[in-house]
Amino acid sequence: MKVRICFVCLGNICRSPTAEATMRHLVELEGLDAAIHLDSAGTGAWHVGEPPDRRAAATGKRRGVRVGGRARQFQADDFDRFDYVVAMDQNNHRHLIELAPTEIDGKKVFLFRDFDLDSGKGQDVPDPYYGGDDGFEHVFEVCAAAARGLLDHVREKHVL
Ligand code: 4NP
Repeated sequence: MKVRICFVCLGNICRSPTAEATMRHLVELEGLDAAIHLDSAGTGAWHVGEPPDRRAAATGKRRGVRVGGRARQFQADDFDRFDYVVAMDQNNHRHLIELAPTEIDGKKVFLFRDFDLDSGKGQDVPDPYYGGDDGFEHVFEVCAAAARGLLDHVREKHVL
């Protein structure tokens, strides 16, 4: 059984595809592709079907990380398909808890940066959509650090 992780932001074109890509990069480096399934989605539907924001893709490309996929909206029945539903910010987190069909599903919802032991609890991945390119650089760094912490957590918890 794979460990299944879905990263969730608002639009699924900036932060959650970057989170998924940084996590996949680490998972591949550590030879865990067969053990961990990764996906991402948005709480909103505005960008469904679109590729990642070109600024997110360009930032990943400069660092040798492919930020890909197509945007989709997170659905309540996604809770059946994932073990970890990882929110990029507090708003996404609240939205996901409201959407969770059961209390057990609600316990699958985590805040991404809580896995980064250096960032402190309750921190958001800041929304870069309306800002400049430097916002995307920052998002990439924040995601890479949180992905490291999440992978350490998953390896320990699931003995991988
Ligand atoms: P994301 O960024 O949630 O990181 O994908 C956003 C993308 C689009 C919008 C907001 C945030 N929007 O308002 O369309």
